[in-house]
Order: sequence, then structure tokens, then C-alpha cells
Amino acid sequence: MFRRTSAPAEIPYPRRIEGQGLILRPWDEALVRQMATWGERGFPYHAFDLGQLRDPARAGAMLARMRGPGMHRNFVACEDGVAVGRVSVNLKDPAGLYLWGVHVPPEYEGRGICRRMLATLIGWLEEVRPGCDFALTANAFAEHAHRAYFGLGFSIVETRWHFDREVANALWKVSPEEREPIAKYVRFHAGQWETRTHFMRRRAGAPMHAGEASRLIAAR
Ligand SMILES: CC(C)(COP(=O)(O)OP(=O)(O)OC[C@H]1O[C@@H](n2cnc3c(N)ncnc32)[C@H](O)[C@@H]1OP(=O)(O)O)[C@@H](O)C(=O)NCCC(=O)NCCS
Repeated sequence: MFRRTSAPAEIPYPRRIEGQGLILRPWDEALVRQMATWGERGFPYHAFDLGQLRDPARAGAMLARMRGPGMHRNFVACEDGVAVGRVSVNLKDPAGLYLWGVHVPPEYEGRGICRRMLATLIGWLEEVRPGCDFALTANAFAEHAHRAYFGLGFSIVETRWHFDREVANALWKVSPEEREPIAKYVRFHAGQWETRTHFMRRRAGAPMHAGEASRLIAAR
């Protein structure tokens, strides 16, 4: 069973969370302007692309959502003042501290930003919500992300077919050539496109490693 505190207290936004050469900050207007310039990947990772931030109305709406009250805490990872990644956590998911929106744009990929960003966030969460397990869902084709998650102590606890609206909508439009790299992870079933999905869990306090297996990331 998942472990979580029985009556979680409200966790306010910290001004910043520092660790692993990064500073995690709540979204603000200046960071939104930076993220609007991030490179995009397109299918099948199009749901993460932030091109919509170039439209001022949509940028304002997204900022309001990312700073609004509620169960989610949304962070932008910065390196020397430059926005290099983003991640969100749902503090009240029944499965535990639920990580989502893990995204590093192509121009900052391959430098351990994802692992360092998640290690920093997990370290903070283990302080403010000790003893809670972590959870996330990852499309089975997102193998790069899986490597980062395994390194941080996550393991796959269930694999299932799932209706992912963003992937499903795109699958109606892309060519067979574009679909080919993820063909074994999707199926057309009972009138809709479904995606193979891993549900992953990390026990509270699990060791975190990054890069080579020998390198241990300190949680703070
Ligand atoms: C998945 C994603 C977040 C990975 O971002 P990333 O910053 O490149 O990922 P990592 O932190 O794992 O770093 C990548 C590599 O940098 C290496 N690295 C370099 N310097 C490092 C350092 N100082 N510390 C740790 N790793 C380092 C790692 O070894 C890793 O190599 P590997 O992938 O061959 O194992 C990014 O590709 C992305 O946003 N993809 C699209 C959206 C997506 O799939 N999101 C996840 C959905 S579940």
C-alpha cells in the first residue's frame, strides 16, 4: 500500500528550492517569457511543448493556473537565472506525492537537468511531507524519462493500456511514418487510440542515483 500522512497540512509555495546546481522557483511572468522561447519536440511529446505561451492571453491563463490555489505545486528549474526545466507535483493524490509535467526542452537535454531537478524537488518534499511515497505515470515510449526515474528510485508497479487524450488526438492526424517509432506502444481498441503506460512508485527515502550508477545524488 502507498504511505502518506493521514491529514496533510497545507504546504505553501517556498520562494525557492535550491540543490544540485539548480534553483526551483514558482512560475512567474519573467519565467513564462523564457519558457515561451523553448524549443519544441512535437509528436509524440507535443503535450509538453509550450509554444502556446507565445500567445499573451494563453500565457496569462496558464500562469494563473500554475500559481493558483489548490493541491498542485508547479516549479520552473533555473540554472544561473535561465529556465531549463519544469515539474509539478500533486500533493493530494491518493497514490502519494504525484509528479507530473516533467519537461526539459531539447536545448538543455542530456545534462542531467531532469534528474537534478527531480532530486531537488523530492528532497524538499521529503522534508515537508516526511514518510510519503511518490508516484507518477509515464508513457511506455518515454524511455529517456524512465532512465531518470529509475535512477531516482522509482520502479514500475503496473503497466496498462490507457486513454491519453493528447496522444490519441494526434494519432488520428500523423502519418504511418511518424507513428512508426511508437507503434508498439499504441493500439486502436474499442473505437479509440490507447497508449501503453507505466505507473511508477518511489518509496519514501529511497536512494537517488544519477548518471553513472556510482554517483549518488544527495537529496538536499
Ligand atoms: C525526459 C526528459 C525530461 C529528460 O531530460 P534530461 O534532463 O535530458 O534527462 P536526465 O536528467 O536523465 O539527463 C540525461 C542524461 O544526462 C546525463 N548527465 C549529464 N550530466 C549529468 C549530471 N551532472 N547529473 C546527472 N546526469 C547527467 C545523464 O547520465 C543522462 O544520460 P542518459 O539519459 O543516457 O542516462 C526530456 O527529454 C523531456 O522533457 N522529454 C519530453 C517530455 C517527457 O518525456 N517527459 C517525461 C514524461 S513521463
